[in-house]
Amino acid sequence: MAHAQPPIPVTARSRGPLAGRVRVPGDKSISHRSLIFGLLAIGETRISGLLEGEDVMRTADAARALGAIVHHDSPGSWRVRGVGVGGLREPGGVLDFGNAGTGSRLMMGVCGAHPITTVFDGDASLRKRPMRRILDPLELMGTTIVSQEEGGRVPLTLRGPKEAVPITYRTPVASAQIKSAVLLAGLAAPGETTVIETEATRDHTETMLRHFGADVAVSPDGAHGRRIVLKGQPELQAAPIVVPTDPSSAAFPLVAALIVPGSDILIESVMANPLRSGLLTTLREMGADISVESEANEGGEAVATLRVRAGVLKGVTVPPERAPSMIDEYPVLAVAASFATGTTRMRGLQELRVKESDRLAAVEAGLKAAGVTCAIEGDDLVVEGRDGAVDGGGLVATHLDHRIAMSFLVMGLATRQPMTVDDGAMIATSFPSFIALMNGLGGDIA
Ligand code: S3P
Repeated sequence: MAHAQPPIPVTARSRGPLAGRVRVPGDKSISHRSLIFGLLAIGETRISGLLEGEDVMRTADAARALGAIVHHDSPGSWRVRGVGVGGLREPGGVLDFGNAGTGSRLMMGVCGAHPITTVFDGDASLRKRPMRRILDPLELMGTTIVSQEEGGRVPLTLRGPKEAVPITYRTPVASAQIKSAVLLAGLAAPGETTVIETEATRDHTETMLRHFGADVAVSPDGAHGRRIVLKGQPELQAAPIVVPTDPSSAAFPLVAALIVPGSDILIESVMANPLRSGLLTTLREMGADISVESEANEGGEAVATLRVRAGVLKGVTVPPERAPSMIDEYPVLAVAASFATGTTRMRGLQELRVKESDRLAAVEAGLKAAGVTCAIEGDDLVVEGRDGAVDGGGLVATHLDHRIAMSFLVMGLATRQPMTVDDGAMIATSFPSFIALMNGLGGDIA
């Protein structure tokens, strides 16, 4: 369903150094998966630290429509009484995932392997995103695509087989969403479902499968890849989940503190999963002053409290194999690169074209609006750093993309002239407290 809401322009202005201590909300990837595993388990799954952003709320609604009982007890604390693998109820209406690629694609894997008919839809952004990458393996597993928009887009209708067929599938692009959809479908299939990925992607689905009692084996495959083998038709048992904070959200205050002169902030308990840490690696190569104040473990994930201080950044080349570990962080890295000395080349960004917006085009347009020289060369983004002095003053088109909105608002905290984004509404999909949190550090976003 298209959600045409009036746009809400938002402006960021520079107002001096950022200071203070913040904790960003729960991880979006793990939050979606918590609700999905809660649905597929027997018993009651207790979740704490759930991200209460709009994307995740759509997954909660879908879990309810599929038969789960979902309770919201207090901020971040949720309970899900599941139906078990094989026990899904056919929903009475359309599953509307709004802006959420992860929620919709993972749920296609779940529903497509069950003998029910489900209709998937979303907003104008989701309606443009490619779903063929999920439908292809599902068809191999026995799912019928009853209807779809041109090229395999939502709205689309799936009908699952009586019993799904286990497959061995090599993902055609590095994507945790494709991997996860196939593994979730594989839960309903007898025998072993195998996913092979050439570049390792975030492993939250594998971790959660184990946590809920499934038999899953992971081994290396090639130089950077992995092979994941899942034994089908397990009885998943409800298990408590503590959602660690979202490193993709932490990226915004982190880059802001690096580029606003004189800043010195602490970001608490940032999830340090190496498959999500490419931005930190890159910023450190650029000379960023980021130190680890303390380390701990939250819900089975390593977390680190980071101290971030402003300083001089230098341009670097980011290798393509790093992309899966920082796939959502390129827009804000491009902002950091604008303030660096020298050129930053980010290689192998073809997947950015099919995110909530065409992020390559959106970033290029936003940087140019701020007076930064940049170019798309093949699948690379090349940014000429302005050595700390970025004009700003531009109006940025966000194309229903939360990360484009937040990246350019971060930029506006350090540019000479304010930066305005045409619509801040989508920020609520992943980081509803973004503006308050940034202003609490001394930012001026309104
Ligand atoms: C996600 C995987 C990534 C990422 C998205 C969340 C996930 O997408 O961009 O925000 O939770 O599995 P792709 O799998 O399409 O790269």
